[in-house]
Amino acid sequence: MNPPFGTYRIGGHKIRPLHYSDQERMLAFFKSHTPDTVLSRYGYALSQMSAERATRLVNVDQHHNVALGAFGQQGNDEVLDAVARYYTTSNPEIAEFAVVVKETMRRRGLARFLFQRLCELAAAHGVKKFFAQVTVENHAMRAFISNFPHETRYIEDLGIIHYYLPIASTTQQGPLSAGQSPAKDKPERSPSPMPLN
Ligand SMILES: CC(C)(COP(=O)(O)OP(=O)(O)OC[C@H]1O[C@@H](n2cnc3c(N)ncnc32)[C@H](O)[C@@H]1OP(=O)(O)O)[C@@H](O)C(=O)NCCC(=O)NCCS
Repeated sequence: MNPPFGTYRIGGHKIRPLHYSDQERMLAFFKSHTPDTVLSRYGYALSQMSAERATRLVNVDQHHNVALGAFGQQGNDEVLDAVARYYTTSNPEIAEFAVVVKETMRRRGLARFLFQRLCELAAAHGVKKFFAQVTVENHAMRAFISNFPHETRYIEDLGIIHYYLPIASTTQQGPLSAGQSPAKDKPERSPSPMPLN
């Protein structure tokens, strides 16, 4: 059975899969990013996003490459305020994930909601773990991940942390409550980095 790709609402936002018709919204979303946000999300400085790249980012198969957006309403149009995606690696049980939320829309639970939806979809597709590469300086993302069971591997020479998040425990338990410890199982071998861009 196909996983539930329905439309959800959180606050004033509609959560739905990205679609090829979202290309202009993706470009506008990228233009709204500060250089810090671009660096945190993509891992390198990027001053512009090409139309081809934006098309690639929105036009995904929604199976091996799943992308969800949080859309606000602006007049008659939708405006993209957050994106979360995963991409399966050479090991189909591990998918790399990334999330980015517009600066003015942070700390409203958008990343948490998108992440939990991604976990449900990934679980339905047989993905067992999410993998994320986060720079040591990215305190917001590190704090975000610390809400969920995870394990880490510090890649000192690159200044990045590899995070592994077991999906079953995330979908069953939800975020950790105060006093709970993250899962302690052994990290998998790092998948070959698969740029989510
Ligand atoms: C990291 C990021 C995605 C978080 O998005 P968000 O929508 O603001 O996160 P949420 O509102 O869902 O936060 C959920 C929880 O994560 C933690 N958290 C998120 N941002 C935090 C911050 N800046 N400082 C401390 N804790 C933070 C908190 O525990 C928060 O719960 P709370 O607000 O109830 O305290 C956002 O800051 C972002 O887009 N950063 C730039 C892009 C990026 O780094 N992406 C990661 C690439 S892998």
